Amino acid sequence: SSTMIASVISKILPNRMRTFAQFIIRNICEETDPLLHYKVRPVLSISHGMGCLLSIMLHELIKWLLPTPGCRDVVLFRIGTSGGIGLAPGTVVITDKAVDSFFRPQFEQVVLERAPACSAELSGFPTVIGNTMCTHDFYEGQGRLDGALCSFSTEEKLEYLRKAHEAGVRNIEMESTVFAAMCRVCNLKAAVICVTLLNRFEGDQISTPHDVLVEYQSRPQCLVAHFIKKRLGLIA
Ligand code: URA
Repeated sequence: SSTMIASVISKILPNRMRTFAQFIIRNICEETDPLLHYKVRPVLSISHGMGCLLSIMLHELIKWLLPTPGCRDVVLFRIGTSGGIGLAPGTVVITDKAVDSFFRPQFEQVVLERAPACSAELSGFPTVIGNTMCTHDFYEGQGRLDGALCSFSTEEKLEYLRKAHEAGVRNIEMESTVFAAMCRVCNLKAAVICVTLLNRFEGDQISTPHDVLVEYQSRPQCLVAHFIKKRLGLIA
């Protein structure tokens, strides 16, 4: 009967659509497109690849997408990974201020609205609000001793991290300043939410097993998904 056919189709199609979408992504996008993106209803998820591509992605996004009819009340999230300062690995840091390597605030969080409230509602992982230090370098720039170059001692490194902690810095990454700056200038609501992969007081190398890292990386996504569902009225 037509009902039966409809029911079979509805069971097969979503699967087939997903398979086809993944096939197309593998064949058309993945090899050539550094800015892989997915759109699910009003949610656009873009992977910018290397940090230096973030500003290109933001320029393209803001230039082409935002003026599209129907595109309004936009909120941008940067979700990513970071090195924690004095936090257990796996802690999610919601950025209050993005600061430079002298701990000087570069940009305040544009708008977080209910993101902190969302985090309180989500159990299962620790979440804090703190300053995020944004650097131009992963090694010396973040006080690491294990790069090709290192011009300071272990004691100087720890002293630097202590000073950062006193200044309210809770994590270090490499994208928050450009993200916050562009959103601020373009008057877009935005939030930076990164999970910490290690506690920098305890080391420089990320030695956490892969499956644990994968779970950690899902944490900012959970928080943002919760925020989006609330925003869309899908949950109370
Ligand atoms: N990203 C960074 O920039 N630093 C870290 O320590 C981890 C992720």
